[in-house]
Amino acid sequence: MSQEKLVEIKNLKQHFQTGRHSVVKAVDGLNFDIYKGETFGLVGESGCGKSTTGRTIIRLYDATDGEVIFNGENVHGKKDRSELKKFNREMQMIFQDPYASLNPRMKVEDIIAEGMDIHGLAKNDKERKAKVQELLETVGLNKEHANRYPHEFSGGQRQRIGIARALAVDPSFVIADEPISALDVSIQAQVVNLLKKLQEEKGLTYLFIAHDLSMVKYISDRIGVMYFGKMVELAPADDLYNHPIHPYTQSLLSAIPLPDPDYERSRERFSYDPNNHDTSEEPEFREVRPGHFVLCTTKEFEQYKREHGAVEQ
Ligand SMILES: Nc1ncnc2c1ncn2[C@@H]1O[C@H](COP(=O)(O)OP(=O)(O)O)[C@@H](O)[C@H]1O
Ligand SMILES: [Mg+2]
Repeated sequence: MSQEKLVEIKNLKQHFQTGRHSVVKAVDGLNFDIYKGETFGLVGESGCGKSTTGRTIIRLYDATDGEVIFNGENVHGKKDRSELKKFNREMQMIFQDPYASLNPRMKVEDIIAEGMDIHGLAKNDKERKAKVQELLETVGLNKEHANRYPHEFSGGQRQRIGIARALAVDPSFVIADEPISALDVSIQAQVVNLLKKLQEEKGLTYLFIAHDLSMVKYISDRIGVMYFGKMVELAPADDLYNHPIHPYTQSLLSAIPLPDPDYERSRERFSYDPNNHDTSEEPEFREVRPGHFVLCTTKEFEQYKREHGAVEQ
């Protein structure tokens, strides 16, 4: 994996005004980088701000504060049409609900080709058709599917159509927002494997959003754990599983069911108490193990280092 940064998220905030005196701080000061060619898993309970983070990165929302740098260029701020178009092409999104995200009145061919049309990527109708057919095959469907409508497909097939639509404009960065949460368990792995295969073939970079830690482990190089708009822990995937440090991450991991029923019964479950933290100062993101960051105060940092800092050879 390269250490070259494709996306840099700096102090990103997204605050929604929900009433005259009420504000939801959906994203509240995120700082992290996504490297070229990696899968960055973003995990946290429903409502913690994952989708808002994805949508703000891709500029579906203007940021309340902070910056998103893509390939060295600021995504937010004033842009002319051609700059916006360029970002729109480079960054694509795959959505959670394959039923709601495909227009039921459009043929699959037109759904997939929509972005190609906007960006003028097909010279003529013949080329457009050929590209759509190739994309269908790339995602494991077949070319006869081009003339059908979304309702004729299963959930897993619809998600494949959503993936083909995203790939149609040749993006370099794809945000997959819980792309398998709405699918049957039996086909979740197929879609994850397809995403992995496409990443290898096309050198894609992913931000993969999920609400639990069970599936992201297999697809992610690094994982960030979000809690109420903030990132509380960020680490290489293996290190996060082997050495969860923040008590919230520990509670998330202890909630994953394990295949071994005996061990499962005897296992300790943690529940996270957000009030059980040192409050002597504002917590900061600090490196406890190599590449492994935790949101903590100085005092907690010293404790985490004593308990988790040693790196086994
Ligand atoms: N457009 C919006 N207006 C107001 N509040 C919103 C909006 N979108 C999301 N929220 C709120 O922001 C918080 C984070 O939501 P979301 O990003 O969807 O979380 P997640 O994807 O992690 O489930 C939630 O409290 C949600 O209710
Ligand atoms: Mg969401």
